[in-house]
Amino acid sequence: MLAYRHAFHAGNHADVLKHLVLTMVLRYMNGKDKPYRFVDTHAGAGGYSLEGRYANKKAEYAQGIGRLWDRTDLPAPVADYVALVREFNPQGGLTQYPGSPAFARLVMRPGDQQRFFELHPTDERILSSYAQGQRGVEVHHGDGFEGLKGQLPPSSRRGVVLIDPSYELNADYARVVATLRDALQRFAEGVYLVWYPQVSKVEAAQLPRRLEALAPKGWLHARLTVQRVDSQGFGLAGSGMFVINPPYTLHDELAGVLPWLVEVLGQVDGANFLLDQRTA
Ligand SMILES: C[S@@+](CC[C@H](N)C(=O)[O-])C[C@H]1O[C@@H](n2cnc3c(N)ncnc32)[C@H](O)[C@@H]1O
Repeated sequence: MLAYRHAFHAGNHADVLKHLVLTMVLRYMNGKDKPYRFVDTHAGAGGYSLEGRYANKKAEYAQGIGRLWDRTDLPAPVADYVALVREFNPQGGLTQYPGSPAFARLVMRPGDQQRFFELHPTDERILSSYAQGQRGVEVHHGDGFEGLKGQLPPSSRRGVVLIDPSYELNADYARVVATLRDALQRFAEGVYLVWYPQVSKVEAAQLPRRLEALAPKGWLHARLTVQRVDSQGFGLAGSGMFVINPPYTLHDELAGVLPWLVEVLGQVDGANFLLDQRTA
């Protein structure tokens, strides 16, 4: 049984980067009338209480969304992201944090499709009850790496895939690469977003290079480093988003946002970002 529960981490700096990029990509997809499919291979519970014992164990959200919540100088894409979190908190205060399925729900249009995979039985149950009755949404209890195969290509030939494993198993790094290799054969034009942690592991350090090799039509890599790993090499220094076939607008939008995020979310002097892309 997997031990990872995203409730401990909801709204932290890594979620900020991931959900900001996801929001920007989905907004871009909304720019064309034609419907699209969003597949979330590791969907989590859909939304999280920030008042529960999980979220407050280390109060990670305080160093993420908590640092943005009351700011009045948000760059436009960050303002859009924070506005979605506010929409998820109709009572006004920051007590709930939306997961990727909820961001999709808030941004996508009625004719679009959402496909969620989640392996943990409790989180899958919470997600299913959140998604119940929503049009165009399917929740699958199972392995998202495997499940993605049956979702590609979407009939509209427009699609976004988020691959956001917990990396609790070292094998997840290799599975991300194998899954993407297969997915690109089925649906080369898809937009694929991979989140990865910045931790002291050779597999994590090598992942972006391995993904570059899969993406001849173009990729974008954004990384936000906010702290240092501890003296024993443990901890999450930051995280990255690797996007295959990114919207052409994404690089310039992120270039306007990442320096600001370093200032606001950085916890140490050496906080920094990386932004790189290749186009075909
Ligand atoms: C980082 S969390 C997902 C967070 C979510 N995407 C979000 O942004 O709100 C990773 C999730 O993947 C689930 N998981 C782990 N292995 C999986 C697998 N092989 N297939 C589907 N879900 C898996 C975990 O239970 C966990 O809920």
